[in-house]
Amino acid sequence: MASPANSVVLFGLSLWIFLFSPASSLTCTSQKFTNNKLYSKCLDLPSLSSFLHWTYDPSNSSISVAFIAPPAKPDGWVSWAINPTGRGMIGAQAFIASKSNGVVTVKTYNISSYSSIIPSKLSFDVWDMKAEESDSLIKIYAKLKVPEKAEILNQVWQVGPVTDGRPSKHGFLPANLNAKGTLSLNGGEQSFSTGDGDLRTKKKNIHGILNVVSWGILFPVGVIVARYLRTFQSADPAWFYLHISCQISSYAIGVAGWGTGLVLGSESKGIEFTGHRNIGIALFSLATLQMFALLLRPQKDHKFRSYWNIYHHSVGYTVLVLGILNVFKGFDILNPEKKWKSAYIVVISALGVISLLLEAITWVVVLKRKSNKSTKPYDGYNN
Ligand SMILES: *[C@@H]1O[C@H](CO)[C@@H](O)[C@H](O)[C@H]1NC(C)=O
Ligand SMILES: *[C@@H]1O[C@H](CO)[C@@H](O)[C@H](O)[C@H]1NC(C)=O
Repeated sequence: MASPANSVVLFGLSLWIFLFSPASSLTCTSQKFTNNKLYSKCLDLPSLSSFLHWTYDPSNSSISVAFIAPPAKPDGWVSWAINPTGRGMIGAQAFIASKSNGVVTVKTYNISSYSSIIPSKLSFDVWDMKAEESDSLIKIYAKLKVPEKAEILNQVWQVGPVTDGRPSKHGFLPANLNAKGTLSLNGGEQSFSTGDGDLRTKKKNIHGILNVVSWGILFPVGVIVARYLRTFQSADPAWFYLHISCQISSYAIGVAGWGTGLVLGSESKGIEFTGHRNIGIALFSLATLQMFALLLRPQKDHKFRSYWNIYHHSVGYTVLVLGILNVFKGFDILNPEKKWKSAYIVVISALGVISLLLEAITWVVVLKRKSNKSTKPYDGYNN
């Protein structure tokens, strides 16, 4: 059915659609408004496929604006804001239009923290506020007072999903983080945020990769090595050194990942991922304790050795569970492309299946040894 020729044609067709689709040729100058409203200036905003149209009236210090953006989901919100006190989201005097159950409404929000987004009055007068939807785009219309003789304002825009009828957290991709800039009311040069969103995303990706590799993959592999390879006499003492090297590398990479997490946390004041952070701290403390376990390990015939085993194993399994849990929490926060989370799920499931197989093999080996009259299954190096 899917012959190579068909695929080539299909590929060519999608490339053509991609290159010549109307969306990519849409600019603000070609946009029309239902009520034949005209604005004197317009701007293709550099991210989130958004547009701003406005007319500045210096005689009474007001602007009339129309903001156009596609919501993040069919039931989603779009927002445009002036920030009189800063460049980002905090302090923004925002118009948020949200679509819920087919109805689009617009409200004003004084955004003073990342956590409580509730409708409130703005620090300037607003009138003729309205929102509508057409062609999957939401349009916000409003008139607002600007400071007298103002020339440049800080503007911020954003799109996100609606959950339970209320606007909820937007994405954290560069397009989202870079959605801010200045608005020169007279249409002079506009400047937009470019770098820091990308840089932050890069840092977050590094944080993610380091931690997935260490806590998410290497550490579980090290546990598997310790639990299953030592059943085999031929793997002794190789399993021991393999286990130690896995766990020490995992710890080293994990500490680097933990450090990047702390930096990210301190850079994003006001945004708190409490669960992820606390698990991260617990993970780091327990893993550090586990490093001491190596130093404090009594000889195998020492009377404390069995206590040490209990301590080493319980801390180890706790780190294993917390590590994987936090990797998933991290995926939910960073929200990378689906394929990364899927790839990790494949890797961790493969490790799970391998463990199950080895568990079964271990049982067979141990039972066989028992029936071969060896009183005690081989218990490995130093154990
Ligand atoms: C400012 O002027 C415009 C047009 O002249 C008018 O529509 C608007 O109501 C005025 N706004 C204020 C606050 O007076
Ligand atoms: C917006 O919120 C901040 C912080 O809560 C407050 O200081 C400010 O007065 C509020 N502005 C308006 C217009 O309500």
